[in-house]
Amino acid sequence: MEIGIDKIGFYAPDLYMDMRELAVARGIEPDKFTIGIGQEKMAIAPITQDTVTLAANAALNLLDEKDKEAIDLVIFGTETGIDQSKSAAVYVHELLGLDPVARSFEIKQACYGATAGIQMAKGHVALNPDSKVLVLASDIAKYGLNSPGESTQGAGAVALVISANPKIMVLENNSAYLTSDIMDFWRPTYSDMAFVDGKFSNEQYILFFETVWKQYKAKSGLGFKDFEALCFHVPYTKMGLKALKPVLEEEGTTEDQKRMLENYQKSIQYNKIVGNIYTGSLYLSLLSLLEQKEELKEGSRIGLFSYGSGAVGEFFTGIMQPGYQTQLNTIQNTDRLSSRRKISVEEYESIFKQELPVDGSTIELDIEKDSAAICLAGMSENKRQYINKRTYGSN
Ligand code: HMG
Repeated sequence: MEIGIDKIGFYAPDLYMDMRELAVARGIEPDKFTIGIGQEKMAIAPITQDTVTLAANAALNLLDEKDKEAIDLVIFGTETGIDQSKSAAVYVHELLGLDPVARSFEIKQACYGATAGIQMAKGHVALNPDSKVLVLASDIAKYGLNSPGESTQGAGAVALVISANPKIMVLENNSAYLTSDIMDFWRPTYSDMAFVDGKFSNEQYILFFETVWKQYKAKSGLGFKDFEALCFHVPYTKMGLKALKPVLEEEGTTEDQKRMLENYQKSIQYNKIVGNIYTGSLYLSLLSLLEQKEELKEGSRIGLFSYGSGAVGEFFTGIMQPGYQTQLNTIQNTDRLSSRRKISVEEYESIFKQELPVDGSTIELDIEKDSAAICLAGMSENKRQYINKRTYGSN
């Protein structure tokens, strides 16, 4: 049975920060952010968006009634969840009106979480061929104002429907993976902000790619010539290139190098203007390739490199399906990204410092300013109040 990605949706909040303006405010040469790091814009989540709402908005327009009936598993990959106990998947399950006969849970391993979810989803569909699985990848990346990681923040979510006979991409079974206990990036439960050893994290990312790529080649007997494109986890758009280039220059023909580098550029168009969305970054890169490249030939193979600090890495592959374009919402996605509002450094800093009450008091948030259908409307008695403006239902 062939199993893979049947649908893919994306949501980024309404607001963004221009990286050049941030650089000037920090006394940094703007080219460092736009060329050295490779980021143009950074998505900023207003207080009315959290990991639950971002994911629910990513999935909202994706699912039809048949999907809703068939989805019996919701897996939510995040490293910036809103609750230490209750999973974000349960909130989204309700907000989307999914069938109650379902398993829903959250999964964590830094930016690798959604990949773990997809592999688990494949297993579930293999055992239950009529089932569909909703895999959500949603995060708000925060390193802190004036921190070295500040230029690599972002916010957004990707939603994927995994099913048998998928219309976008069949996921192949050969994959290569690696776990190593390292402290390159982590966030203890008492901290809102991630801790990171930036240079070490870059080195480890590169080493993980080299290792899983070699392992994959040995397992499969395939090489660059067998791939149309490779998509990477994109903490910032220069990162994937740093990992790809040395291996490509060593092993790829001139033709392979040209194809891989051209397609890499297509695969980072969205990431460049959204920033790091952690668990969703690799899948945002895949979406960018699918929507920004004119056409991927039926049967062409795409490689996917997933990296989650701490660390777990995996290289796996998919085969493009005929007519995959009919499953995409390119115009809607590009329109949304281009109609976001640019905010000033002052507004960004003020949003960054906003906090929800932690003493059980009540707060009502102004959701009118947020164009999203699903918003966080407030908090009361330590419970988040969500609203779907389309139904005015809340939970
Ligand atoms: P930094 O110290 O700000 O920057 O850290 P830098 O000094 O290394 O410079 C960056 C690049 O800009 C360099 O290019 C400079 O030469 C260049 P490179 O040598 O790398 O090719 N540069 C310029 N270019 C043009 N014009 C100029 C100019 N000046 C300098 N004027 C760092 C950068 C990414 C380390 C930092 O932002 C950081 O710590 N970010 C967070 C960590 C991170 O993103 N790590 C990536 C790998 S780990 C990962 O992907 C997992 C993660 O997503 C988390 C998870 O799994 O959950 C993070």
